[in-house]
Amino acid sequence: MIPFTDLQSQYQDARQDIDAAIARVIKENSFITGPLVEEVEESLIKYTGAEACASCGSGTTALQIALMACGVGPSDEVITVSHTFVSTPEAVVNCGATPVFCDIDEYYHMDLDQVEGLITPQTKAILWVDTYGQTPDIERLAELAKKHNLYTIADAAHSFGYSYKNKRVGTLADLTCVSFNPVKNLGAMGDAGCVLGRADLIERAKMFRNHGRNTRFDYEYIGINARIDNMQAVVVQAKLKHFDRWVARKREIAKYYSNNLSNQFQVPLERSWGDHSFYVYVIETDKRDALQKHLYDKGIQTNIHYANPCHTTQAFSPWYRKLPKTERRVDRILSIPLYFSLTDSQIDHIVDSLRNF
Ligand SMILES: Cc1ncc(COP(=O)(O)O)c(C=O)c1O
Repeated sequence: MIPFTDLQSQYQDARQDIDAAIARVIKENSFITGPLVEEVEESLIKYTGAEACASCGSGTTALQIALMACGVGPSDEVITVSHTFVSTPEAVVNCGATPVFCDIDEYYHMDLDQVEGLITPQTKAILWVDTYGQTPDIERLAELAKKHNLYTIADAAHSFGYSYKNKRVGTLADLTCVSFNPVKNLGAMGDAGCVLGRADLIERAKMFRNHGRNTRFDYEYIGINARIDNMQAVVVQAKLKHFDRWVARKREIAKYYSNNLSNQFQVPLERSWGDHSFYVYVIETDKRDALQKHLYDKGIQTNIHYANPCHTTQAFSPWYRKLPKTERRVDRILSIPLYFSLTDSQIDHIVDSLRNF
């Protein structure tokens, strides 16, 4: 069976660095907070060019502390999407605010033609998702936010490593939330994440991630425990120096898929302003369920990102709005295996099996 993801491959490729980094955490007896955390934050700042960085325990808590840092709370509305992992709107609700769902465009991004119509006096932020590994039109988003005095927050769980017009993800919003979940472009060996962006807001995010503390026993805000585990921090740092090579290989494979599959399937549309970082490679077809079974019978695991749009689930029913494009696409999408360690023969088997459908 060709698995959908290969969680060992990043470790095997960066093994020496990762083993040394973990040994250092044990030797220094430093498991949460402290210089190791500061080091990974510095590395992430250097890699992305962001003003500042607050590492944290997951992509989910990154979203929560980012919203808290922007002062989002009860009576505020946040415009976001439903075609995403549940963490995106969940973080809004966990801040006591109202998620206002926007439909998507042909790139699976928030449809920027619809955003302005959703803005009300209660709107505090636009929280978009860099769906599948590329960004929407950042300049247009920034203009909209400026005009209406809103915070811009990017859920970049899929897009770490992507650049918009040569500016890296991490520098394209007031705050950018990254996940280092093991399946992500750059995966830790457990939960981890970070928020990148404006120094003034990151300073607040750092307090919120650590019980609202500004010093050891002085609590300026009601916060949460969203600190990164130092084992995960050093794994992220160790992997960072290998990361561009992994993404480059994924791009090569994606190009090969697109060249060979575009006659038969809707393949990912690529934005003109950057090189897709392909967190996942998503095709569309009318016969999605039959295709998924056909591939399974050929020994290929697939996945669906995301099978249930958030707004149609019980938990988000209070914020339901009709989202025709989101709802139409959910039955058509299928994610096929894409990771840097796929071998040429696995790639050919995937392509042949798709073409024989
Ligand atoms: C779009 C999106 N946002 C947020 C998250 C949450 O990240 P984490 O699993 O690190 O909490 C994910 C991860 O699955 C995601 O895909």
